Amino acid sequence: MASHASIIGTGSYLPKKILTNADMANIVDTSDEWIQSRTGIRQRHIAADDEFTLDLAELAARQAIDAAGIDSSEIDLIVLATTTADQIFPSTACLLQSRLGCQGGPAFDVQAVCTGFVYALAVAEKFIATGSSQKALVVGAETFSRILDWTDRNTCVLFGDGAGAVVLEARDKPGILSTHLHSNGDYSALLHVPSGVSNNYAAVQEGRAYVEMEGSEVFKMAVRKMGEVVDEALEANNLAKTDVDWLVPHQANQRIIAATAKKLGMSMDRVVLTVGEHGNTSAASIPLALDTAVRRGDIITGDKVLIEAFGGGFTWGSALIEM
Ligand SMILES: CC(C)(COP(=O)(O)OP(=O)(O)OC[C@H]1O[C@@H](n2cnc3c(N)ncnc32)[C@H](O)[C@@H]1OP(=O)(O)O)[C@@H](O)C(=O)NCCC(=O)NCCS
Repeated sequence: MASHASIIGTGSYLPKKILTNADMANIVDTSDEWIQSRTGIRQRHIAADDEFTLDLAELAARQAIDAAGIDSSEIDLIVLATTTADQIFPSTACLLQSRLGCQGGPAFDVQAVCTGFVYALAVAEKFIATGSSQKALVVGAETFSRILDWTDRNTCVLFGDGAGAVVLEARDKPGILSTHLHSNGDYSALLHVPSGVSNNYAAVQEGRAYVEMEGSEVFKMAVRKMGEVVDEALEANNLAKTDVDWLVPHQANQRIIAATAKKLGMSMDRVVLTVGEHGNTSAASIPLALDTAVRRGDIITGDKVLIEAFGGGFTWGSALIEM
C-alpha cells in the first residue's frame, strides 16, 4: 500500500534581537506608520553576528522533533529550504544532519526563495509516498538580514530572520492531500540578488550581494498567483472553499494575505497571520506561522490546512494538509 506523509510535529525559532519599526526609522527614511499601513509588519528578528542559518534551523528542528515525540536518530531524510545557506557547500541540510546525529539518509537543500518550504515539503512528501523515507525533517531557515541593503528603504524594512520545521511520518492515510508547484523564470529580474558564486563573486566577497525588488509588480503577481493556487488545490481535492479550516499563507505582507483571503471568501479569523511579529522570513515564514497556530491550539488534529506561497523566480505553490 502506498504511504502517505503526515505532519507529526512542528517547531520554530526566532532570534532574540528585535528591530522595531521605530528602530528602522533610525536606519532609513521611513516610519512605523508607513511600514504598518503598507505591510502590517511591526518588527523583525535579526540573527546575532555569531548566529547562522544552521543554528536557527537546528533550534526549530529540535522543537519539531520533540513535538513529534521521536528521537532525532530516527530521521531518515532532511530537506531544508533556504536562500541564505551558511556555506557554498556542503548544504545546510548536511550540516544539520550531523548536528542532529541522523547520518546516513539523504539530506539536501532546496532553493525556491519564499516558496522554498512548499517546495521542500512537496519533495519530502514524494520520498515518503514512494516508500523511500519513513520519517522526514522539512525545514525552512533564513538569515535574510545578511542579503539586505540596509540603506534601501524599499527592501530592508520588509524582511527578517527565522526558522521553522516539521517532521513528516509515513502513515496509512493522508496527511498531505496534494501539492502543486510552479515557477516562471521570465520574471527573475523583478525579485532577485543579481550576483552569486559564478557571476560577480566580488559582490559576495565585498558584502554587496543584496536583494533587489520591483515591489508593486511583485505585489500584483503575488496576489494573482496566491489566488490561483488556492483554486487549483481545491479543485484537485474536490473540495469547496468552506472545507478549508485554516489558510497558512507565506507571510510577506498583510495586504497580500488579506487580498488572497478575500478572493477565497475566507474571513481573516481563519487565516494565520504572523507577519507583524517577524516580517518576511522567506522560506521560514510558513513553518513559523504553522507552528505558532499549532502551539496556540488553533490548528488541531483533523483540520484541513492550506499552505501557499509566492516568491523569487518567480515561484509559487500550495499544499493541502489534513493535520
Ligand atoms: C513594497 C511595498 C510594501 C510598497 O507598497 P506600495 O503600496 O506599492 O507603495 P506605494 O506605491 O504606496 O509607495 C511607494 C513610495 O513609498 C516609498 N517608500 C518605499 N519604501 C518606503 C519605506 N520603507 N518608508 C517610507 N517610504 C517608502 C517609495 O520610495 C515610493 O516613493 P515615491 O512615490 O516618492 O517614489 C509593496 O509594493 C509590496 O509589499 N510589494 C511586495 C513585496 C513583497 O512582499 N515581496 C516579497 C514577495 S515574496
